[in-house]
Amino acid sequence: MCGIVGYVGRSYSKNLVLDGMQKLEYRGYDSAGIVFVEEKTSRLSYLKKIGKVADLAKGLDGLSGDGFVCMGHTRWATHGIVDEANAHPHFNCKGDIALIHNGIIEGYEVVRKELALKGHKFLSQTDSEVLVHYFSSVFELYKSVKPSILDLVKKFKGAYSLAILMQDIPDQLIVVRHNSPLVLGKQEKGFFVASDIVAFAGKVEEFAFMPEDSIAIINKKSIELFNFSGEVLLPAWQKSSFVFDIVNKDGFEHFMLKEIYEQKKVIERIVNFYRLVGTDSKLSAHNDLGNYFDYQLDIEYQDRIWQQLGITIDQVKNLKNINLVAAGTSWHACKIAQFFFEYICKIQTNVYLSSEFCYMPFFEQKDSIYIFVSQSGETADTLQALRRVNSYNIPTIVITNVASSTMVQEAGGFLPMQAGVEVSVASTKAFSAQQVILFILANRIALEQNKITPELMKHAEEDLFIAAQVLELSIENYKWEISQKLAEQYSVYKKFIFLGRHISYPFAMEAALKLKEISYIFAQSYPAGELKHGPIALVDNNTPVVIFSSLDDIIYKKIVSNAQEIKARHGHLVIFAFEGQTELADLAEQAFIVPRVNPFLGPLAMSGLMQFFVYEITKKLGNPIDKPRNLAKAVTVE
Ligand code: AGP
Repeated sequence: MCGIVGYVGRSYSKNLVLDGMQKLEYRGYDSAGIVFVEEKTSRLSYLKKIGKVADLAKGLDGLSGDGFVCMGHTRWATHGIVDEANAHPHFNCKGDIALIHNGIIEGYEVVRKELALKGHKFLSQTDSEVLVHYFSSVFELYKSVKPSILDLVKKFKGAYSLAILMQDIPDQLIVVRHNSPLVLGKQEKGFFVASDIVAFAGKVEEFAFMPEDSIAIINKKSIELFNFSGEVLLPAWQKSSFVFDIVNKDGFEHFMLKEIYEQKKVIERIVNFYRLVGTDSKLSAHNDLGNYFDYQLDIEYQDRIWQQLGITIDQVKNLKNINLVAAGTSWHACKIAQFFFEYICKIQTNVYLSSEFCYMPFFEQKDSIYIFVSQSGETADTLQALRRVNSYNIPTIVITNVASSTMVQEAGGFLPMQAGVEVSVASTKAFSAQQVILFILANRIALEQNKITPELMKHAEEDLFIAAQVLELSIENYKWEISQKLAEQYSVYKKFIFLGRHISYPFAMEAALKLKEISYIFAQSYPAGELKHGPIALVDNNTPVVIFSSLDDIIYKKIVSNAQEIKARHGHLVIFAFEGQTELADLAEQAFIVPRVNPFLGPLAMSGLMQFFVYEITKKLGNPIDKPRNLAKAVTVE
């Protein structure tokens, strides 16, 4: 989604900002822009381009000059189409104040109309442009930055982080954080600001997350930080040890393929990281995945995992309700994990879609816990849900891949996913990592509540190693057939149905999401038992029905019956089954057989093969696999 990078200091700034913008590319965007105060003319100089930061950089070669204050923006369209007029920066009428903005301004149309009546001319369809015109009008009134920016934050609701550069005050940036993250960076020669620490990792000695609802006026020598009431705040500087590892494809054609293949290693790494090997063994975190999000649990012994989570052992022992909140793929991982918590811990578990959570009644439960699962740790829907629960006295935990994310700052406790940087917009290894951590967590809670023995806990860990091997082996077994034959055959279909039952139903949802988001083929998922209640009308020979089996004997028999119902209607069946499930496999036009694993880990074991199948179909279609149209890696708007 949108990204902000700014610099104020004694170094030439254009390339520093451009470099930061390139580092934010993983978030997904459709246009980019940059503005600086040109040293010689003392005027704002800017460029906007549709497409990549690299295109912007090429264009900048033709834009002479540089300056010591600069800000850049990558835009993911929300209000207005993708074009240069809607790209940031936006300017006031005189063109001497520039603004870049992440987020969404609520009710901006009213202010836009008021300003238009006063003669302001708008050049874009964005909500962001209203902010700069408003700021300009109040600045004319107050003739001072602080009251003007305080007036602006009182006027506008929504979620926004923004940066303002004024030609007439050329050595400062004004930045605001409101429901959208911003982090400050300090180095000997100046200051950075960005929506993600990644933008200046390795370039600063210290960093400080801007507090929620705060404003900073940054100049070459100092930062004035204050809240929305104008009260002075002190930045909480921390030593920066973040290093930006260049993440490359390591010879793979796409990041998605590389990340699919990393899964075995990721699973093993997580199990080793969280492994229960005795109370005196220290935690070790391997750093072999080039993970700049890498994180060491700051506890000496694994036994104190609950301390890391901000809950006491007594709270764990008394836990009676578990709530999981997430979006997209992370939500699917939670739906799978519901089976872990309900069967292994025997604790009632609710799974919420974060985009719905804040708009439903909230029932405070005693002895409950809320676990927020997010690869990025920045998903706005999930963050809002976390904030809602934080307003009650209930423990909150976030499981995320990004230790520096806003969710980690705001949750009561944090479990690092340890998946390594995931670049592809379509999540693969994060999905597996989430299943693994939630499985381990379920077993650890069950152990604490004496529902399983330490031996069973160890078995659970060993089962994860086996599932990791099966995941990779299954891809290898079908690699040739899929890439040489099946991908072509299945890429011609215009729609797919995905079915599962019990624990394999959320996995079917994930498979349908994966196919939709990268191949753009319409895919619908259903619980297999629901087909007969309506969707079976869709079954024909032009719509492959992909069924994911289960290792539970009763569920398996039900799935066989559902497959027969489809066969009887001349449906085209693709089956993902486990070894020995011949009755089901024999019904299929195409069957993929996977070695048997712990039944709870069936989806994990099938993850790689399912993702590889979808990847190869999409490759045949020639789509931009790592950056599908319309999507962003971190969805920072509600
Ligand atoms: C996954 O392939 C998607 N791109 C998307 O559904 C994603 O899982 C969702 O936006 C949630 O993101 P998060 O895990 O970073 O919160």
